[in-house]
Amino acid sequence: MKKNQIIIFDTTLRDGEQSPGASMSLEEKIQIAKAFEDLGVDILEAGFPAASQGDFEAVSEISKILTKTVPCGLARAVKNDLDRCYESLKHSKHFRIHTFISTSDLHMKFKLQKTREEVLDLIKFSVEYAKQFTNDVEWSPEDATRTDSDYLCKTVEHAIKCGATTINIPDTVGYATPSDYERIIKDLFNRVPNIDKVVVSTHTHNDLGLGVANALAGISAGARQVECTINGIGERAGNAALEEIVMAIKTRNDLMPYETNINTKKISACSKLVSSVTGFPIQYNKAIVGKNAFAHESGIHQDGMLKNKQTYEIMTPESVGVVKSSLVMGKHSGRHAFKEKLEALGYPNFDEKKIDESFKKFKDLADKKKHVFDEDIVALVDDDLMKDKNVIQLVSLNVVAGTKGQKAEIELDIYGKKSKTEQSGDGPVDSIFKGIKELFPHNINLQLYQVHAVTEGTDAQATVSVRIEEDGKISVGQAADTDTLVASAKAYINALNKLIIKRKRTAPRDEFSAAV
Ligand code: KIV
Ligand code: ZN
Repeated sequence: MKKNQIIIFDTTLRDGEQSPGASMSLEEKIQIAKAFEDLGVDILEAGFPAASQGDFEAVSEISKILTKTVPCGLARAVKNDLDRCYESLKHSKHFRIHTFISTSDLHMKFKLQKTREEVLDLIKFSVEYAKQFTNDVEWSPEDATRTDSDYLCKTVEHAIKCGATTINIPDTVGYATPSDYERIIKDLFNRVPNIDKVVVSTHTHNDLGLGVANALAGISAGARQVECTINGIGERAGNAALEEIVMAIKTRNDLMPYETNINTKKISACSKLVSSVTGFPIQYNKAIVGKNAFAHESGIHQDGMLKNKQTYEIMTPESVGVVKSSLVMGKHSGRHAFKEKLEALGYPNFDEKKIDESFKKFKDLADKKKHVFDEDIVALVDDDLMKDKNVIQLVSLNVVAGTKGQKAEIELDIYGKKSKTEQSGDGPVDSIFKGIKELFPHNINLQLYQVHAVTEGTDAQATVSVRIEEDGKISVGQAADTDTLVASAKAYINALNKLIIKRKRTAPRDEFSAAV
């Protein structure tokens, strides 16, 4: 490894998925893993295999498909966790086991109810046990930034002696400041024997909005791996955002002369993928990937940009894969042009029948909407792709809305059988959702209902996201249509269809007892 190389360790599928409401299906995780490999992620933490059957399967399937990116699984200092980790990762030629245990007095006393000596014994056990399965063992002292510094040095030295090859320093509760975090990492480099033989890693949470700043401070102190997530998703306020770390290094390479393997042009697509799968919108002013990150509104800025882009642009939108919305085609465009467009948008494997179906949908859309943009086609095709797996389909919807009351007349095809109902509720969306519930009885909690416009203008397609929950299982549905109410019905049905798939894959009860 080059001295100035920074290893990008992505934990979107593990720490990211721990965001309340961000659960993803197996298919979605596989799709993300493939996109991240394409992005150039070095290590991908695909899950916590002992936590649930779903996590186990995801790590297992992902470890079968990755060829360049190294798959990794998380395990506590417990035999069963380490065994499950190995069982799920063993399909890959090279994999990493990441094992951790808390080291702060607070966590050891209240969470683990263990003494410092007992924790040292568990470090020895877990690292040595993991080492039987792979040479690539990462060890983390959880809550490292609130750990007594002498004891932290002792645990890190111990983990290295037992065979850890990466030492990760988690700021578990996002408590550190950049100078603080830099000092902790420097201290380890100054005091721990053989620290130069392992890779030191940052793992920084964003509770004080310092996740990225702390990761960069860690790098300047000598860390050569960063743990991060796309869009910064993760527990509570999230983790350090991959796109921000990578672009900070790239843009300020004069101050941070490091390299990563990330193909920055793929950042925007990965960010959109994670947002659509989790149903977590990207805040408009989010650095790098927000809708406004490259928008220039004020006259003075626009004038400067026209004269020389560098006046107000420190990196180009193209460098992170943001392409200007291009007007694709109108209703006169032909099938051939549409097929080429699909390929350019990343749908190269459509058979002729699928192209015909999508082309018909595109023509219908072009009849309703003057300008059809790339984003419209992506929304239309993605929406259509889900259909094949659906057991519930929307046949027709008619809604009456306005000041005199609201009602929805809805017809669904459920397992191939059509049925209809008419319902009224508190507004048109409530009426539609009641109608669906009447035809397909279920007992779920609606956690989120959200509408976004895909492009500009009142004729824009609406993308609706719906998040539902049933017995702890979360499902996010999405759909797009020029009619917001049709999109709402389809999104709700999409979430139900995904939930039905999840029901079929019910995980057995969590087998392990309380945390160590
Ligand atoms: O934040 C944390 O401490 C973690 C560890 C499991 C690495 O995510
Ligand atoms: Zn974490």
